[in-house]
Amino acid sequence: MLLPIYIYGHPALRQPAVDVAPGHEGLAQLLQDMWDTMYQADGIGLAAPQIGKNLRIFVIDGSSFAENDPACEGFKRVFINARITERSPDRVTMNEGCLSVPGIHEEVSRPERVTIAYKDENGEDRVEILDGMRARIVQHEYDHIEGITFIDHLSPLKKRLLKSKLAALTAGKFHKNYRVVLPEN
Ligand code: NI
Repeated sequence: MLLPIYIYGHPALRQPAVDVAPGHEGLAQLLQDMWDTMYQADGIGLAAPQIGKNLRIFVIDGSSFAENDPACEGFKRVFINARITERSPDRVTMNEGCLSVPGIHEEVSRPERVTIAYKDENGEDRVEILDGMRARIVQHEYDHIEGITFIDHLSPLKKRLLKSKLAALTAGKFHKNYRVVLPEN
């Protein structure tokens, strides 16, 4: 089932998400809905808060980047109750966008490498050390379960320059091929 995506400015995107309990009812269906919604929207990642669920879950399929970053080949994962346990001191800047912030793409500086511990869709504990594009996508989605969007990483000047664009977004003045939930204002 396709779910509507919550748009920047909605309080659902600002709330730190909570851990998924073992045996969470409807988890398999929720994951399927998240995949369907992400692919239909041409996304490479989707976090539960983006569909209005306050849960520490995100899904990623970075395989479309394999041409530029071979490590992305087959990088399709479900991250449940993830915790980033280590961040490299060295940082890199890359261009980012977000299904919750349609039409805005900005350069964002983040640690180059992270270690992440999580449960997969089968409840297995996993730990991965990721760099390059995989680290980038994971950190972006991880932010969502912490109530953060990539806009929060921009400089005050950059944010000021984007102010009217962001206001247009929260007012629903944009066109996308997926259903959305706008902030009430
Ligand atoms: Ni996003």
